[in-house]
Amino acid sequence: MNFSILTLFPELFTSFLSESIIKRAIKSKKIKVDLINFRDFAKDKHHTVDDTPYGGGAGMVLKCEPIFDAFASINSRLKTRTVFLTPQGKRLTQARVEKLAKYDSITLLCGHYEGVDQRVRDELIDEEISIGDYVLTGGELPAMVLIDAISRLQPGVLGKEDSHLQDSFTKALKRKKEYPHYTKPAEFKGLKVPDVLLSGNHAEIEKWRKKHLKP
Ligand code: ADE
Repeated sequence: MNFSILTLFPELFTSFLSESIIKRAIKSKKIKVDLINFRDFAKDKHHTVDDTPYGGGAGMVLKCEPIFDAFASINSRLKTRTVFLTPQGKRLTQARVEKLAKYDSITLLCGHYEGVDQRVRDELIDEEISIGDYVLTGGELPAMVLIDAISRLQPGVLGKEDSHLQDSFTKALKRKKEYPHYTKPAEFKGLKVPDVLLSGNHAEIEKWRKKHLKP
């Protein structure tokens, strides 16, 4: 899976991409992430990316030229899906993540300020996605959420031990029902792990887990 991220703040992605499962996925070439600062495509000497809205009103609007040029710079030989992260988008669900995970390439546009010139949305964007009913300062955190959720579904990204987690939408939802987990020590500050879990009696453990499933 190839991700191209169009952002004004590429450094926000540095630690996210350089730790843990995502770092390994990049190293083993299961995913590739290209960060594109669309400010680099602004042609004026101040590298302007936003301007006041036509018709008046508060806030600034991201200009279309740098974003169109940044999109044009992306190698589009791959079947790609373009996504704009915005609180006005369709809510992100596991079903939507699974659909997106099937593309070879995804281009993510991270918005800022009041919005983006409508011509970008009309001409360049396939779908608009919101990660929840709240407003963030920009699309970078939502883009990371999306990359994380899609990457863990790519074959080989989760290790063998974790591969049972790489399951279908329905299973993923069922998995929301979890039993309580414990690990060593068996007693911590007087708080004890239920005896049955230490018993080695698998039938009893299974019974206990079923009884303690929580939604
Ligand atoms: N940009 C700002 N808030 C957002 C949200 N909730 N989802 C996606 N993009 C956003």
